[in-house]
Amino acid sequence: MSASPPVRGPERIRRALLGGYPLVYVVSWEEARVERAVTALAQRFWDRPVPYGAWSAVDGLVLAGEPIGGTADPVKALDAVLGIEGPAFVLMKDLPALLPGRLDLVRRLRDCYRQLKGTGRFVVLVSPRLVLPEDLKKEVFVTEFDLPDEAEVQYAVRQLAARFLGDGGLPEAEASRVIGALRGMTLDEVEHVFSKVFSRSPRFTESSVSELLAEKEQLSRKEGVLEFVPPRTSIDDIGGLENLKDWLVKRRGLFTRQAADAGLPVPKGLLMMGMSGCGKSLTAKAISALWNLPLFRLDMNLVFGTENPEASFHRALKTSEALAPCVLWIDEIEMAITGGREAGGGDPALGRIFSTFLTWMQEKEQLVFVAATANRIHLLPAEFIRKGRFDQVFFLDLPNEAERKQIFTVHLKKRGVNLDGFDVVFLAKATKAFNGAEIEAVVQAAAVEAFDLGRPMTEDDVSRTITATVPLSRTMDDQIKAIKSWAHNRALSASRDLTTV
Ligand SMILES: Nc1ncnc2c1ncn2[C@@H]1O[C@H](COP(=O)(O)OP(=O)(O)O)[C@@H](O)[C@H]1O
Ligand SMILES: [Mg+2]
Repeated sequence: MSASPPVRGPERIRRALLGGYPLVYVVSWEEARVERAVTALAQRFWDRPVPYGAWSAVDGLVLAGEPIGGTADPVKALDAVLGIEGPAFVLMKDLPALLPGRLDLVRRLRDCYRQLKGTGRFVVLVSPRLVLPEDLKKEVFVTEFDLPDEAEVQYAVRQLAARFLGDGGLPEAEASRVIGALRGMTLDEVEHVFSKVFSRSPRFTESSVSELLAEKEQLSRKEGVLEFVPPRTSIDDIGGLENLKDWLVKRRGLFTRQAADAGLPVPKGLLMMGMSGCGKSLTAKAISALWNLPLFRLDMNLVFGTENPEASFHRALKTSEALAPCVLWIDEIEMAITGGREAGGGDPALGRIFSTFLTWMQEKEQLVFVAATANRIHLLPAEFIRKGRFDQVFFLDLPNEAERKQIFTVHLKKRGVNLDGFDVVFLAKATKAFNGAEIEAVVQAAAVEAFDLGRPMTEDDVSRTITATVPLSRTMDDQIKAIKSWAHNRALSASRDLTTV
């Protein structure tokens, strides 16, 4: 392969430079990748290589390999940059974190803007978060350095294949599977995973792709908040919820590049709210097989467990775009608003996470379908549910009698029971106010009992476990009434018929 490296992230920086901005702020988690890009710019941006410098709070300014004394303070470092003769590229690593409260530093950056203009000298700031005082917003060009796109991963994979497997070591037909498996990671991670698998045995085999996926998963478990959910749930596993299922079936062909190119509206997302144990998570999982798309679960608990929830959340959204087309499942999204606490408010970071999400929903261009669920719906702010954010908001109520019959059928069949000996209409009548999870539990308990007695499960076994169960909803009648009336005007019923509840 003789293709030159694609430069999407770096290209954005280059465009900023061509636009004449001497100060560029790169929002990225990949400091090393940004550093490589800036080093490359120092080599190639001008007709001859120019000096490259890097500043960090620990090392001060190191210019063309030489440490410059007395530059641990960023203001002094910027003074030194102002004093350089001719063109240069300087990467300031830890600087954005220092900006709040340092008026002298803000001042010196503004000086840099004026004095560096037209000198061919550039200062690049890098940080995973955008921290920019109002005063600097006009002077600094902000650009994002996304995760590598398909072309970048493809290039990296070709390079790595040549290094580890030799020419022709990666069969052309397999290359796209490997690239697909390695997307959603930084280039460093791609290299790490690839070399880990192929330095063990430098040959591409049947199991190589799954080994790559396994390594990737291990890596993502360490620090990622997105989890790949295998497509094991079918739409036929869902009893009832006919309106919701119809909605999904109807949109099966819309979530494709072809449909988008044909000008058809691409579904953006779906919000499912309501009673717990009624199939919200189940439905989210089923979208994957129905639409034939990979599904990634964004775990809000993990997000809040990281040092910087806001950055982790933003990163997860960006990662999902790198994995597009895909379904992004955000379970119990009310966590994003409350940080896991019962009442919201107070913590400004939570407000930011929430607005990050809304902005992203509005602006995302990639084919990422958001399947969000919410249990504690009274915590959802009005602007969240407002029309236009999600394509549709569904309310999942406790299953009505017809639905309970279907849910019994699903779970009895799953246990290989011959339905002839079961009166599912009777079972449905006997389980008023049960949710889907409770019906499943009843069937499961009956199956365990029968197994213990060494015989197939009977309807009597199921009846007995029903009698022994008090559904959760019975103890929270008032709450349920409140939830229902709250949802009444705000959401569409997921069930076809509510009159038999
Ligand atoms: N409508 C349903 N049809 C079939 N099974 C259901 C249904 N609702 C709930 N269940 C069973 O209960 C389990 C828990 O439901 P879940 O979807 O996690 O509820 P929640 O609405 O709280 O997300 C499911 O995995 C499934 O086995
Ligand atoms: Mg759930």
